Amino acid sequence: MLYHLKAFEAYQPQGTMEPYVRTIREEESITVHHPNLTPDIFDKYTAMKHIVEAQKAGITKVEWIHVSDDEDAATWEELEKACSNCNGCKLYSNRKNVVIGTGNKKASVMFIGEGPGADEDEQGIPFVGKAGKLMNQCLEGLGVKREEIYIANIVKCRPPGNRNPEPDEIAVCLSYLEAQIKLVGPEKIVLLGSVSLQNILGKEYAITKSRGKWIEKDGIQYMPTFHPAALLRDEHKKIDFWKDLKEVFKKS
Ligand code: URA
Repeated sequence: MLYHLKAFEAYQPQGTMEPYVRTIREEESITVHHPNLTPDIFDKYTAMKHIVEAQKAGITKVEWIHVSDDEDAATWEELEKACSNCNGCKLYSNRKNVVIGTGNKKASVMFIGEGPGADEDEQGIPFVGKAGKLMNQCLEGLGVKREEIYIANIVKCRPPGNRNPEPDEIAVCLSYLEAQIKLVGPEKIVLLGSVSLQNILGKEYAITKSRGKWIEKDGIQYMPTFHPAALLRDEHKKIDFWKDLKEVFKKS
């Protein structure tokens, strides 16, 4: 049974959340209305905090339902503010910086990695550590300046010990990334590694099988390839990574 939590259409003070969580606790899934009345990332962020509470209470499925045709995309300013203030998952407690993204905000090519490591957490910029330097070399070799593309990650705060981000962390952060993709409006997106691939296109995709092949979805061309950190562990993967990026930046 689906519940329409109209309370999420607008800002709900924390204190009024309890009855809703209690009502839906027995249900299998809920449907959350997008806060379209005030198309503002703060409301969306507040709604997300409530969703996290609902998930903690055992709700397994949460859907955003767009109940309006109005364009509800956040502005960069709203998005950056919401990300910087985010405490929607446990990763916020140990972060030094929220790593939102870097590069050309109107790029035709966007890269999506997994999540910040120690160097990225320190500097607040994605892909500035060893893996990032290797990626930069590859871009330079192809005559592409890093500033021409836009780079972001599945999660914006560093998972401890560089572990993979967990589903509840990804669930919160993906709506920021979706807003970011809308704002950049890229033609092509490079998915770096399996965490990126599976959380953007679906768990049915495996990186070894999918890499190097274009996948079209909702008007965007996706190119899955290895994560640059995988190239540091296995030199042989460098050739495929190079080929995949060459394909992305091929002049048509
Ligand atoms: N690995 C990632 O997935 N992202 C970064 O920003 C750095 C390393």
